[in-house]
Amino acid sequence: MDPHSKEVVLITGCSAGGIGHALARAFAANNCHVVATSRSRSSMSDLENDPRFFLQELDVLSEDSVRHALSNVMEKYGQIDVLVNNAGVQCVAPLAEIPLSALQHTFNTNVYGPIRLVQAVVPHMASRRKGKIVNIGSVTVMAPGPWAGAYSASKAALHALTDTLRLELRPFGIDVINVVPGAIRTNIAISAMANYNWMPEWNLYKPFEAAIRERAHLSQGFKSTPSDVFAKKTVAVVLKKNPPAWFSSGQYSTIMAIMNHLPLFIRDFVIRIAMKC
Ligand SMILES: NC(=O)c1ccc[n+]([C@@H]2O[C@H](COP(=O)([O-])OP(=O)(O)OC[C@H]3O[C@@H](n4cnc5c(N)ncnc54)[C@H](OP(=O)(O)O)[C@@H]3O)[C@@H](O)[C@H]2O)c1
Repeated sequence: MDPHSKEVVLITGCSAGGIGHALARAFAANNCHVVATSRSRSSMSDLENDPRFFLQELDVLSEDSVRHALSNVMEKYGQIDVLVNNAGVQCVAPLAEIPLSALQHTFNTNVYGPIRLVQAVVPHMASRRKGKIVNIGSVTVMAPGPWAGAYSASKAALHALTDTLRLELRPFGIDVINVVPGAIRTNIAISAMANYNWMPEWNLYKPFEAAIRERAHLSQGFKSTPSDVFAKKTVAVVLKKNPPAWFSSGQYSTIMAIMNHLPLFIRDFVIRIAMKC
């Protein structure tokens, strides 16, 4: 089969158990060539011997790593049709005491990482006047609560950048889609807690320790949406001829859309009860 007849989709953060991995499988099931990337190849070893996947190590924090992976993709396929900026980290900590290094790491991964990828693929997509860029945002932006301020702010920044990119890249034939997940069952709480264990002991916020830890697990309740269900719906939307600018799905996506429109005093009241602050 002519390798150029299929869409080539590059996804960041495809470690098994996460949204990126589920998206990789869902794009492959829709007849796409999938460049599944993650920091370590071993984290996606189950995709290793399947010809639908081209596995690459890619750390969104590293210019060299991005350049190296993209040059391998161009050598193999000569094109990238869809970029999915999925890699991301959660971060829980009170803003008044969070180490700035933790805040910076969150922004480096969730904001500058996607922009690094965008800047790397746009010249290629613009030259073909064809391409789609999918940024994975979050419903937390709709009603940011306590303890995840760094994460919510990073995703809010990504939402804003996505809105601007959609307008700036339109003249070059590139669609930009903000995919806004609700609560999806993944490994996000595990990595959030790994980061949390590096935090210093809180001064003012010691009495809130349990609530802060609980926030890391908020999206991982027993009713959270399975990642394959979310991925299937997302891929169907992204592969449309004219994809929408915004797609939100998963547990809490409707309630968060409503929260977004509530007067702030009501929203704060609801959040204070739910988040124990
Ligand atoms: N799960 C949810 O409820 C939810 C809700 C809203 C938005 N999201 C967003 O969905 C995306 C995927 O998260 P997830 O829930 O699937 O969490 P996850 O299971 O923890 O997956 C996150 C992925 O990002 C990767 N990653 C982290 N730092 C990276 C870096 N510097 N370079 C490359 N990859 C890196 C991780 O790699 P390692 O395995 O090497 O750490 C992992 O593959 C994130 O952007 C997240 O913010 C998730």
